[in-house]
Amino acid sequence: MPLRFLTSGESHGPELNIILEGIPANMPLLEEDINLDLKRRQGGYGRGGRMKIETDKVFFTAGVRHGRTFGGAPIAMKLINKDHQKWLNVMSASPINDNDPQVKAELDAKYISKVRPGHADFAGALKYDAPDVRDILERSSARETTSRVAAGAVCKTFLKQFGIEIFSHVLTIGKLSVDNDVIASVSEATQCKDKYIQFKKQVESSELRIYDPSGKKDQEFKDYIDSIRKKGDTLGGIVEIFALGVPVGLGSHVQWDRRIDGLIAQAMMSTHTVKSVEIGLGEEVGRIPGSQVHDQIYRAEDKNPLHYKRPTNNLGGTEGGMTNGMPLTCKVGVKPIPTLISKLDSIDLDTKANAESHFERSDICVVPAAGVVLEAMMAIVLAQAFLEKFGGDSIAETKRNYDSYQEQISQK
Ligand SMILES: Cc1cc2nc3c(=O)[nH]c(=O)nc-3n(C[C@H](O)[C@H](O)[C@H](O)COP(=O)(O)O)c2cc1C
Repeated sequence: MPLRFLTSGESHGPELNIILEGIPANMPLLEEDINLDLKRRQGGYGRGGRMKIETDKVFFTAGVRHGRTFGGAPIAMKLINKDHQKWLNVMSASPINDNDPQVKAELDAKYISKVRPGHADFAGALKYDAPDVRDILERSSARETTSRVAAGAVCKTFLKQFGIEIFSHVLTIGKLSVDNDVIASVSEATQCKDKYIQFKKQVESSELRIYDPSGKKDQEFKDYIDSIRKKGDTLGGIVEIFALGVPVGLGSHVQWDRRIDGLIAQAMMSTHTVKSVEIGLGEEVGRIPGSQVHDQIYRAEDKNPLHYKRPTNNLGGTEGGMTNGMPLTCKVGVKPIPTLISKLDSIDLDTKANAESHFERSDICVVPAAGVVLEAMMAIVLAQAFLEKFGGDSIAETKRNYDSYQEQISQK
C-alpha cells in the first residue's frame, strides 16, 4: 500500500492521533489546510452540544517542516479533546482509587450497562468481554471521524496539486428532498468550472449543505429537523460526493481488490452511520434499459484533456473497476443517529433485564457533517490509487510521472 493511515483516540480521552505515511516529500502543507475541513465537519444544522465545546484544531507532531512534507517522514497529527478535562478520572490511564466517594460517584455516573441499539455497544461488549460498555462507546464513537477528516484533508491537499477536487452536498434528510432541478445543476457543476465554483459557494453557505438557489428549502429542512428534535427522535438522509479532475486509469480490472468502485464503496461503508453506497445512477440502473444507461463515447476535436467526450455520466466515472476520466459521483445513505432522547427498548447487560437504552449527549441529524467525512474517505482512496499508479517519493517525481502518462494517453 503506497499510502496508509492509522488513527487512535477515544471520544473523551486526552487526544486523537493520526499517522499518515506515503505522501511524497516537498508537498506544501499547513495546519490551516486541515483545520478548515475540521470546522466544516463540526457544522451542520441538527448537531448536539459537543460541537459547541470543541473547536477542533490539528497540531503536526512529525513529518512537516517549514510548511512542507519532507524526506518521506510519516505525517503525525494530534487533536486535543478539550472535553477530556471533565473526564480525567473516568478516562484515567492509571488505576483509579474508587475508595474516594467523590471519585466513585463520578465513575458510577458514567458507567454503562444498558446498550444502545444501532451502536457498537451490544456486539462490542460481548466480543471484547467489556466490564463497562463505555469501553466500547469511547472508541466506536464518531469522534473518530475527526481523525479521518484530518487524514483526508492532507490527501485533498495532495490531490489538488493535480487539479483533483472533492466535494459533497446533501440530497435528502428524512422525508425531505432537494428540488429535482438540483440534479441538473449538479451535472452542470461537474462539467463547468465556473458553475462548480458557484455551486460550491452556495452549498458551503447552507447549514444543511444543500444546493438551494431559491433560498426556500433551507428553512423547510430546519423546521422539519426541529419538529423531529421535539419528538426526541433523529434523522438520516442521502449525501452525494463527487470528485472532479480524476485522470483515466486509477484502479484496475485485473483483481477484485484493485477495483476502484469496490475501494470507494468499502471506504464509504466503513464510515459511521453509512448503510448504502451507490455509484453514478446506482440502483436506478436495474430499472432502465442499457441504451439509457451506458455513457456513449464520441471523438472530440478539442483536447479536454483527451480527444474524447461523453455527453452523459450515468456510470459515475468508473468502468471495469477503473476511473474513466468522467467525474466520480457517489450517493451514500446515512441512517438516523442511534442515540435518541425518546429512548429505545434494550437490555441491561448486568441485570439481564429489559431496560431503556442509555442516553448520552447526542446529535439529532449529522447528514451534512457525514458528507464532509465522506469527502475525506473519497480523498484517501483516490490518493492511494493515484500513488499506486504514479508513485514518486517527491512531489516533483510524482508530477513527472503523471505528466508523462497524460502525454502518453493524449496521443490515443
Ligand atoms: C459526523 C458523525 C457524527 C455522529 N454523531 C453521533 C451522535 O452524536 N450520537 C450518536 O448516537 N451517533 C452519532 N453518529 C453515528 C454513530 O457513530 C454510529 O451510528 C455508530 O457508531 C454505529 O455505527 P454504524 O452506524 O456504522 O453501525 C455520528 C456519525 C457521524 C458520521
